[in-house]
Amino acid sequence: MTHEVAMVESDPSQATDASGWSAARYNQVASFVYSSAFTSPVLELLAPQAGERIVDFGCGSGEITLELKKAVGSDGRVVGVDSSSSMIDKAKLAGLEHAFVADIQTPADLPEALLASTNQFDAVFSNAALHWCKRDPMGVMLSVKRMLKPGGRFVGEMGGFMNCVGVRSALHVALRRRNHDPVTMDPWYFPSVHDYQSLLSSAGFKVLHISLNPRYTPILAGLGAWLELFVRHSFLRELGDEEAKEVINEVAELCAVDSQDAQGQWALMYMRLRFHAVLSAP
Ligand code: BEZ
Repeated sequence: MTHEVAMVESDPSQATDASGWSAARYNQVASFVYSSAFTSPVLELLAPQAGERIVDFGCGSGEITLELKKAVGSDGRVVGVDSSSSMIDKAKLAGLEHAFVADIQTPADLPEALLASTNQFDAVFSNAALHWCKRDPMGVMLSVKRMLKPGGRFVGEMGGFMNCVGVRSALHVALRRRNHDPVTMDPWYFPSVHDYQSLLSSAGFKVLHISLNPRYTPILAGLGAWLELFVRHSFLRELGDEEAKEVINEVAELCAVDSQDAQGQWALMYMRLRFHAVLSAP
């Protein structure tokens, strides 16, 4: 079986924004991320209540954020934040009025509308975003603390230790073979239970629950499309198109032995780190 991957760069409706994301492409390749089958465990942990104020950090194109909005009702308030303008534009179009572009790793750069509501939120929620916050995980904690009331909860799910095992090592191999330094290029932060629990505790949270949960994840669009979406504009952003294509083809080739079945269907083993923490009173 060949693993030649078609590049989709030339489709203008799927152009990426300055942060490297395209909401249209994300919705096409990765809608499983916000499917109810995959999000119900973390939403049960959050248990949003009518009248609550909730911030969604890394809200993407807003599908879950809009569910939260429904859950809190007209007496509540839900705000979405994402580093991608493409995602935020899509979330606004879908009906999320309070949606802002910001890097949640830098508390001082949070939008004015949020900084004006410091320590007024009942909960900060995050799904499938915090593993992109490798630059400053403690910065994320400080942003969350800015938002929460004392006793407020921080509930989230992210890639954890051993997430998408195999893909990451194949990327490192393919890049090292081409004299790149995969360690500095690697954008992913996949902490263990021990490491994330320590981070939460050192930031002043009481951890009520934290666990690693393996999740078999069919990749219906194929690993090539997955790599184009999740890797081309992050891990491989310094590479030209030709070399990026070679790396993607080689990674698909290396991963096929574990991740592609006899019918040609792809799947990855996602490892979700799920947690529920509360902000201790000062
Ligand atoms: C994740 O959701 O765990 C993930 C998605 C893409 C790349 C890396 C991790």
